[in-house]
Formats: sequence, structure tokens, C-alpha cells
Amino acid sequence: MNLDSSGFTLVNLVWAALAVPAFIYILVGTDYSGRVGGEPRGPRITARWGWFGMELPALFVLPAVYLSAGNRHVVADLLVAAWVVHYVNRGLVWPWIAERHGRPVPVATCVSAVVFNVINGLLIGWHFAYVADYPSDWFLDARFIVGAAAFLSGAVLNLTSDYHVARLRSRNQGRYVMPRGVAFRILSSPNLVGEIVEWIGFALMAWSLPALAFAMWTMANLIPRALWRRRWYRETFPESA
Ligand SMILES: NC(=O)c1ccc[n+]([C@@H]2O[C@H](COP(=O)([O-])OP(=O)(O)OC[C@H]3O[C@@H](n4cnc5c(N)ncnc54)[C@H](OP(=O)(O)O)[C@@H]3O)[C@@H](O)[C@H]2O)c1
Repeated sequence: MNLDSSGFTLVNLVWAALAVPAFIYILVGTDYSGRVGGEPRGPRITARWGWFGMELPALFVLPAVYLSAGNRHVVADLLVAAWVVHYVNRGLVWPWIAERHGRPVPVATCVSAVVFNVINGLLIGWHFAYVADYPSDWFLDARFIVGAAAFLSGAVLNLTSDYHVARLRSRNQGRYVMPRGVAFRILSSPNLVGEIVEWIGFALMAWSLPALAFAMWTMANLIPRALWRRRWYRETFPESA
């Protein structure tokens, strides 16, 4: 790919702008991936393999683009490492620990997630490889420090809530439960809120357009899901929600 910096900026602006209609489209649609949604059309795949297949491109594309350029920088190294740690958990660990008793995932959802992950991996990886030029004191910059705090706190909230729900569910023989605990008292989907905070933090740390676009797409994907799930909790556990 031969892309000058204005071409790359334009591609990223278009990609970021597309998150807005995507948000509206998802918001007026329904969730076919779990307990909330209606009956999906088309072929389906077991949730475990679906998640594994969807998240694998996210794990490999960004590091491959960055490392193949041979233009490494300690800041980008750290950001790529943070990305890899997140996706090792999401693609290789979590799907095999969380017993997905829910319905299988539609193949169409997996295909769109693969496309999404490839695009984001290419754009963010390209930015780190060819565009980013961090000053040597970037680790002391307020954007990096605030971003790192947001990334880490979002990741802790996301991980602890994901594994809390997974544990509760396997203790209850696969039944749906009303989770207890501080985070669930305040938020109905702390895992999704944590994920959003995490990628906003990453965008601040990276201070880059493709990372901002990824944070916007994450919001477009997860805000509708969090709203559906809040409604689901209210309908399923009216006494506690
Ligand atoms: N970056 C992005 O754009 C993006 C997009 C999607 C997801 N994610 C991340 O991927 C992770 C999983 O997302 P998700 O939407 O599948 O999360 P989720 O709705 O919390 O579901 C995760 C698993 O827990 C089960 N579960 C959830 N609440 C439960 C309850 N009250 N009782 C019993 N079981 C319950 C679900 O069952 P069912 O399958 O039966 O519902 C599913 O197996 C999250 O950390 C999310 O942030 C990121």
C-alpha cells in the first residue's frame, strides 16, 4: 500500500465518520448474539469458535503491520503490547473460560467483526509504523498519563466484570443471574463500559486518528448493546433491576 499522509488522514476521517451511521443502524436493530436478541437469519457458529475467529485478526493484523515496517519506537511498542494483551485475553483466553451457554453466533456477525478488526488493525498498525512520531518525553505528557489511567481502569473493569459474570453463570448451571457487586449496582453492563473507557484511554495515549476512530466504533458497537441489556435486566429481574 502506498498512501501519503493526507490520503491516510482522509481514509481515517471517512472510517471515523462511518461510526455515526453504524451507531444509528445498530441502535435501531437488535442483538442476535446472545440472550437479548431475536431469531437471526442465516448460518450460525458456536459462540466459542465464533469469538475465537472474530478476534484472531485483531490479535495479529496490527502487530504484523507494525513489526513488518521495521520502524519501531518505544511508545508504539508499549501501545502494541497493550493491544496484544487485550486481544490475547479476548480471543484466546476468555472464550474458553466463559461457558457460552447462549445461542450460537450468526456467521454474518463473525464476518462483519473480522472485517472490522482487519480494518482497525491495518489503520492503527500503519499509523504506528509510518506516521507516529512520538517525542522522547511522551510518557510524561498529560495525554499519555490520563490515557494510561483510563486504559488501565477500563481494562480492570472490563476483565473483572466479564469473568465475574462467567463465574456466576457456571455456578448457576448456565442460568441467567442478576449479578451483584459494586460495578453492577451502578451499571448494568460494566464490562461494556470498561471496554469503552479502555479504548478512549488508548486513543489518548496514542493520540492518533485511527485509534480515535476505533474508540468511536467501539462506542457505536457497545452503547446500543448496553442499552438493550439494561432493558433485558429490567424485564428479566424486575424485582432487582
Ligand atoms: N470492541 C468492541 O467493539 C466489542 C464488541 C463486542 C464485544 N466486545 C467485548 O466482548 C466482551 C463480551 O461481549 P458480550 O456483548 O458478549 O458481553 P455480555 O453480554 O456480558 O455476555 C458475555 C457472556 O456472559 C453471559 N452473560 C451476560 N450476562 C449474564 C447474566 N446476567 N447471567 C448469565 N450470563 C450472562 C452471556 O450470555 P448470552 O450469550 O446467553 O447472552 C455471554 O455468554 C465484552 O468484554 C465486550 O466489551 C467488544
